[in-house]
Amino acid sequence: MDRYAVVGDPIAHSKSPLIHQLFAEQTGQSMQYEAIRIDAEDANFIDEIRYIQQLGFKGLNITVPYKLDAFELADELTPRAEVAHAVNTFVFQDNGQILGDNTDGAGLVMDIEQNGLRPFKDKKVLIIGAGGAVQGILKPLLAKQPGLVHIANRTAKRAQVLGQRFDTEVPIHGSGWDEIPLEPFDIIINGTSASLEGKLPPVSEQVIGSNSLVYDMMYGAEPTVFLNWAQQHQPQCQRMDGLGMLVGQAAESFYLWRGVMPKTKPVIEQVRRLIQPNPQ
Ligand code: ATR
Repeated sequence: MDRYAVVGDPIAHSKSPLIHQLFAEQTGQSMQYEAIRIDAEDANFIDEIRYIQQLGFKGLNITVPYKLDAFELADELTPRAEVAHAVNTFVFQDNGQILGDNTDGAGLVMDIEQNGLRPFKDKKVLIIGAGGAVQGILKPLLAKQPGLVHIANRTAKRAQVLGQRFDTEVPIHGSGWDEIPLEPFDIIINGTSASLEGKLPPVSEQVIGSNSLVYDMMYGAEPTVFLNWAQQHQPQCQRMDGLGMLVGQAAESFYLWRGVMPKTKPVIEQVRRLIQPNPQ
């Protein structure tokens, strides 16, 4: 049976084995998927990957803290991995070469367009944050031809530099918090790690309209502080958390390995039930 795994540290609570098992059942693919911890203190990432490759694994997902190491190790990179400067998927090829890809952005775009029913084309998009997570999503997002993208970040310079990196017809602006236009955006994406600490980026609620989609790349058992903030100011707005992105990036990796694209919606619902504190 073809073997796959996710590697990272910590890895014990990874949802990826469950998600891929559900995909395999749904599509009738015969495969095995496990979680492997590569000790961030003691292990050598390259040696561990070579060992896993020798065992005959067909591919890997790579998560925190190894996405940059994976980028550096890959023999060949997809254009989206090159732009993201991070790799979350390896394909071990028959000739021994490692193809590195990044499916995070495609997973986010797919979740918003297919599950959120919000096409990006011609839409005004506000992205909050300019770190690694945001860097990973911009190329697939720009490929959907939004009308405008504004990237706002605590460190304004980082947003400005990131905005200038893309060769695209789409107008991109980078700024700090103060220069965000105070008008509703169609799609607002929080890509900061602030939610992790239960903190809100100091963005005016005027950027949310009653028709906006507000998306947090983080997720948890409860709505994130960012989504609660959006609901408080615009109860009508659509809100989504990053669980769909997690399942979406997994679906894109699965497609890369197996050539079959699984449906994400039923899997998101199943994983959601499992992470809720009091499942009904
Ligand atoms: P990741 O890979 O999760 O994106 P990162 O590259 O360290 O991690 O980026 C974290 C992002 O969250 C950055 O945009 C960071 O802002 P700075 O560039 O100014 O550091 C943002 N961030 C982290 N904590 C934040 C907070 N409390 N408020 C607002 N933004 C925050």
